[in-house]
Amino acid sequence: MEILGVDIGGTGIKGAIVDTDKGELVSERKRIETPHPATPAAVAATLKQLVDEFHWEGVIGCGFPATIHHGVAHSAANIDKTWIETPVEELFTETTKCKTYVLNDADAAGICEMKFGAGKNQKGVVMMLTIGTGIGSAVFIDGHLHPNTELGHLFLNTKDDKFKIAEHYCSERVRVEKDLSWSKFGAKFNKYLQRLEFLFNPDLFILGGGASKNFAKFSPEFKLHTNIVEAKTLNLAGIIGAAVYAAQKSKPARSTGK
Ligand code: BGC
Repeated sequence: MEILGVDIGGTGIKGAIVDTDKGELVSERKRIETPHPATPAAVAATLKQLVDEFHWEGVIGCGFPATIHHGVAHSAANIDKTWIETPVEELFTETTKCKTYVLNDADAAGICEMKFGAGKNQKGVVMMLTIGTGIGSAVFIDGHLHPNTELGHLFLNTKDDKFKIAEHYCSERVRVEKDLSWSKFGAKFNKYLQRLEFLFNPDLFILGGGASKNFAKFSPEFKLHTNIVEAKTLNLAGIIGAAVYAAQKSKPARSTGK
């Protein structure tokens, strides 16, 4: 099935037409700057512009950096606070005139990695983390997604009983802003991973998002007993995974034969 996959981020709105069976792009990838302030109306108008550039009239799958429950946003950590309680699916479907399915951006990236990347055929508990402005998480149990986990918001005891939200401690944004060396960043991220390992005992960690292309530079700091690998689909994961999700949602329900 061909679906327009879109990844909405704090700096850019990216999209491409995806063959959801092969997990490949069948068009070029286009990107438009995220408007500022990134209010619901402004982002929806930019999405419409992207859809028009593709002359697209079919189904859209869209990753969004918030928890999305039944099409409605319930959080807004790194986006405009007016998104909270916005019916995102309805807003995007009405603005673009194309049926749009929306899911959390890390869940979208995880769906792609599980189907086409490092998580392919993996059983047990797989935890994908996307390291960018924030930290996103996607948790799979025997290949099934437990949607809307927000493990980037876990409190970590970082120093002297001072607690910090994980994404304020070891995201890509923190690394860049504090100009951390890769080894320092790796040590911080290790602390976070050790906490996740203790709480969830996953079988595999997959690291995606902006920082993951430098996996080899910071992973030597990891002291874990859980397997850990970098994502294979890198910056296309969000687009491809969103399209795959929309393909699953838009398939007609199977008849029971009765
Ligand atoms: C948000 C998540 C999102 C992640 C990555 C976090 O701040 O709370 O919903 O998946 O950033 O964009």
